Amino acid sequence: MNRANAVEGFRQVFLRPPTLVTRAPGRVNLIGEHTDYNDGFVLPAAIGFATWTAAAPRLDRTLHVHAGNRKESVVIPLDNPGAPLQHHWSDYVRGVAVELERDGHRLSGADLWFAGNVPSGAGLSSSAALEMSVGLALLLQSGIPIDRTRLALAGQRAEHHFAGTKCGIMDQFISAHGQAQHALLLDCRTLGFRTLPLPESLRLVICDSGMPHALAGGEYNTRRAQCEEGVAYLRNFLPSIQALRDVTPDQLDTFAGGLSHVVQQRCRHVVSENQRVGAFAQALESSNCDQLGDLMAASHASLRNDYEVSCPELDALVDFASEAPGIVGARMTGGGFGGCTVNLVQAADVDAFQAHVAEAYERRTGRVQRIFVTEAADGASEVPGA
Ligand code: GLA
Repeated sequence: MNRANAVEGFRQVFLRPPTLVTRAPGRVNLIGEHTDYNDGFVLPAAIGFATWTAAAPRLDRTLHVHAGNRKESVVIPLDNPGAPLQHHWSDYVRGVAVELERDGHRLSGADLWFAGNVPSGAGLSSSAALEMSVGLALLLQSGIPIDRTRLALAGQRAEHHFAGTKCGIMDQFISAHGQAQHALLLDCRTLGFRTLPLPESLRLVICDSGMPHALAGGEYNTRRAQCEEGVAYLRNFLPSIQALRDVTPDQLDTFAGGLSHVVQQRCRHVVSENQRVGAFAQALESSNCDQLGDLMAASHASLRNDYEVSCPELDALVDFASEAPGIVGARMTGGGFGGCTVNLVQAADVDAFQAHVAEAYERRTGRVQRIFVTEAADGASEVPGA
């Protein structure tokens, strides 16, 4: 996918050239899983797969949207955008447009063509890439100054209200704010962040389990509700807490006894994962590969045992990776229930690593595996013409 493909795709549908092209990336999360909606910390990186949007203005307040990958079109009148939760890709476009307008922006009508190469259903945030790419195009098209954090928040509200997923802010935020060669340490309460360079000797290797991951399926929202139940109960003893972010491991040990076993497990994952994010950031800064690997292993174990969002395929991928050449660390990434693992691998061993994991996975599951070697990429941007 490149600018020329987007321009050509637009031209074929709308029979004129676009006036601008944007792209926004998917993401991989290095550590800090299911912490974002608990006001906690995350450490994702944007990746080299992206959604591209080509746009040109219209005189009416209507969006004519064409999905290049599916060869389908929809019309969205901005003054009567239609119902949410249609369980269709247009939910994301309608949602981001409506939420930008609710945020006080008056959008112009536009012809929009989009397509992308973020593997869908793999847990690499293809929907956030779509929201950020289309959202950026709509703002630029309407002459509105870009505030990346507000754009990310509009994308998150689109997920909540139009797609029915009560996601946190991580995916949209990293798609909007990512920086090449860097991961981003985000405080999901204040939305303060800093970028951390990734060691040049390491590569990000993403292994797809091939098990489709479906966030809108109620498990994600159930986890979120269990965390809220934990906070409501702990507030009896710790009245000032707002979220699991405010609870220490010691406090959890002391006060959680009256919660159901399952809710205790969920809380333990979140509280311990927040601590791992801080330690991981420090290990990155000191290039301490042993510690990076230990923290990723502990994160995976916690997601498998306490949060119960892994699956046998993801566990197998982490096991195979841990014995493969060049491995620094491996864990599941994203919401879970299928999707991908993220692996930090020594650059010199990437080929041997891939061969080992692919062969072991195929032998175990009979499934041929997709493996992506990627580098941390920039966040959403306009792509200027030649
Ligand atoms: C999905 C959500 C994110 C985050 C992760 C789990 O990707 O969209 O907000 O909660 O799951 O860390």
